[in-house]
Amino acid sequence: MAAEAKAVDRRAGRHFVDASGEQERMPRFWKAFKVSREEIDGEIDRLKSIARPANGRRLSYIVHPQSTTNSITPGIRASIEVIMPGEVIDLPATNSSSVRICIEGRGEARIDNKAFEVGRLDTWSTPNMAVQTYANRGDVPHVRLMFSDAPLLEYLHALYVSDGTAAEAPAATEGEGEPAGHHRHPMADFVHRLPTGGGALKTYHAFIDPEVVEQTALLWRWEEVKAFLNDMDKDTPDLRAAIIAMYWNPSTGRTHGSTNTITAWMSGGVDPNWTGKKWDMARSHRHNVTALNYAVAGNWKTIVEREEILWGPGDLVLTAPAWAAHSNGRFDREAYTFAIQDNALLGALNSTIMQEYVNRPPLHLGARPGFEA
Ligand SMILES: [Fe+2]
Repeated sequence: MAAEAKAVDRRAGRHFVDASGEQERMPRFWKAFKVSREEIDGEIDRLKSIARPANGRRLSYIVHPQSTTNSITPGIRASIEVIMPGEVIDLPATNSSSVRICIEGRGEARIDNKAFEVGRLDTWSTPNMAVQTYANRGDVPHVRLMFSDAPLLEYLHALYVSDGTAAEAPAATEGEGEPAGHHRHPMADFVHRLPTGGGALKTYHAFIDPEVVEQTALLWRWEEVKAFLNDMDKDTPDLRAAIIAMYWNPSTGRTHGSTNTITAWMSGGVDPNWTGKKWDMARSHRHNVTALNYAVAGNWKTIVEREEILWGPGDLVLTAPAWAAHSNGRFDREAYTFAIQDNALLGALNSTIMQEYVNRPPLHLGARPGFEA
C-alpha cells in the first residue's frame, strides 16, 4: 500500500513524506482462516477451568494471525465469554457496540433498562454506552461468542471505557424522553443554506445537541429466526435470496446494521429441493465488506481466491476477507450459518463496493442502484 511504503524519517526531523507521483493503492486482503470447533471447545474448557478472575470476566479473544490488535478482522474483535453457574458479571459502559450469540447454556441479560433471558443460538445487540449485567442462574456454564467494533475505535484512539462514574447514568426523564431540566435550543435545528455551491451551515448549538436516536439492546430469538428462514421461498434462481436473513436494527435504517457498525445474519433453512448429489454454491463475487461465518448446522464450503475451506458446526471462518473473491455453499438438506459483517459501518461511510459479476464493473451500493438476485 502506497501510504505504508514510506515513513517519516524522524531522525531528520522532517514532518513530510514525498508522495509526488504516488497512486493510492488498495491494501492486500487478509488471508481467509478457520478456527475449528475443537480449538474453540478447548479454549472454552480452559476458561471454565480457571479461577474466577478479579473482574469476573472469563474472556478470550479469537485472533487472526495477521492482526496486531487482537482482532479477527481489521475492524472486528471476536471473543469467547464464559459465565459459570452462579456467576454474575457487570460490564462497564463503552462506546463500542457489540453482537453476541449464545452457544452453550442459558443466561440472564440486563442491558440498560432491558432484561431478557437467552438460550442457545439466541443473538442480541448491545448499543454503545449501555451498562450490562449478565447472570448465570442455571447449573451449566453459559458461553457466548461476542463480536465488537472496539478495534476500530482503538485505531482512531476514540475508544471510551467508563470508570463507572455516575454522570453517565441515564438521566431522569420528563414528558417525551427529555431529561429533566433540558430544553433543546431552537438553533440546534437551524440550517442556513448557502446560495451557491450546495453546502449549508449549522451553528455550535447543532454540534452540542444533535437529534437523539435512542437505542436499546435487541434480541433475535433463534426459534423465530429459524421459522422465518424455513418459510422463505426456496425456488429462487440465486441461492442467497432463499437462505439469507439480516438481523436488522430499525434505528440503523438504510445502513442495515444490528448495531451502527456490525451486521449479523443467519443463513440457511431446510431445502426441499436438495438432491444430495452436489454442493449448492453461490456465485463467486467480492466486496469490501468483511464476513465471518460460524456454522450452526450442516456442511459448508467456502472458496476464497481459489483456496477451499470446508467448515461445519462450531467452526468459525473468515469467509470473506475484504475484497477477496469468494463463494459460499452448503451440502445438506438442513443447514444454518451465523455470520458477522462490517456492512453497517461501510454503509454509514457510503463506502460499500461490491462486484457481483467479475466481468462487470463494481457497484457503489447505496449510492447507485444495486442489482437483482
Ligand atoms: Fe459475499
